[in-house]
Amino acid sequence: MIRSDIRSLSAYAVPDSNGMVKLDAMENPYPLPKNLRNNWAKLLAEIEVNRYPDASMAELRSAIAAQNGLSAEHVLLGNGSDELIQMLIMAADSGACVIPTPTFAMYDLISRWLKRPVISVQLNKQFGLKAEVFMRACRQERTAITFLACPNNPSGNLWPFEAVSDVARSFKGIVVIDEAYLAFSGRSHVGLIASNVLILRTYSKLGWAGLRMGYLLGEPAMIEQLDKVRLPYNINSLTQASARFFLEHFDVFEDQTAVISRERERVYTALAGTEGVDVFPSATNFLLFRVEDAQTVFSSLQERGILIKNLHHTGGLLSGCLRVTIGTPKENGAFLAALKEILA
Ligand SMILES: Cc1ncc(COP(=O)(O)O)c(C=O)c1O
Repeated sequence: MIRSDIRSLSAYAVPDSNGMVKLDAMENPYPLPKNLRNNWAKLLAEIEVNRYPDASMAELRSAIAAQNGLSAEHVLLGNGSDELIQMLIMAADSGACVIPTPTFAMYDLISRWLKRPVISVQLNKQFGLKAEVFMRACRQERTAITFLACPNNPSGNLWPFEAVSDVARSFKGIVVIDEAYLAFSGRSHVGLIASNVLILRTYSKLGWAGLRMGYLLGEPAMIEQLDKVRLPYNINSLTQASARFFLEHFDVFEDQTAVISRERERVYTALAGTEGVDVFPSATNFLLFRVEDAQTVFSSLQERGILIKNLHHTGGLLSGCLRVTIGTPKENGAFLAALKEILA
């Protein structure tokens, strides 16, 4: 009854993080300030959950568009940016999805679910994008869509703007520039939007991971087509109201992300000075690093109550690699102290 290729897949695994210092999922570690939390709760209490949500979300889309100097017709909302990735792959012309490797896992996974072929182009040893090689892959026959995560996950680095714009300008299919970590990189690609070039964003890393809200910016003609494969009412009433409220208090999240960026530099410096650790530069809220025995380091951190992400099993360029999300100074301190102890 179920396709054999689906049966051979594993479900997306989320480890139990109960009671752990949670540094595995690129979340903002700071909760909402108390005064905001109280006003937000009052707002949510007024929502009529017996009714379906606002279907067009015009007001919310306008507010997001305004932050980017655009209008509501340029914005499509998704239940997390994952949902938008699914909509894009579903709607794109038939042909392959071209992606660098390693990159964000969902581009490949969703392509498989939808039986779309994937062409993977290896990054170099420092996770750099070989733009010429990538463009050659894009020029192959029957390529339909490409995703460039800028900065990239799980490597954390930001490819040169020229390399990204060269790909965006030369590919004839749909080009999606994924700016999930914009709050930390500060580099927007909105100026590259064209009839086939779109910008994907999420609020997850900024501090609203639990709300599940992402958005796509593009030319209205493209947004109108993609909107046809959006499930009705995909953003629930509570998320819509919360997002409108949080957008009015955006500075709170910007201040939190600035603190996280400073902490990232501190943790980077500490890791760079730790013997046995090879850490990669990052423009995100996480750091990728390589150690000799990643599995033992990962398990030993877990035993000490610290959960990070083990990427060693992915193989290839990620052999020996672990990824740590930047937490509060206290959490980062606990991670660094535990790592030092394990490597000693
Ligand atoms: C590059 C990239 N894009 C998209 C996402 C998905 O974010 P969301 O929580 O909006 O589904 C992630 C999450 O890790 C990511 O790293």
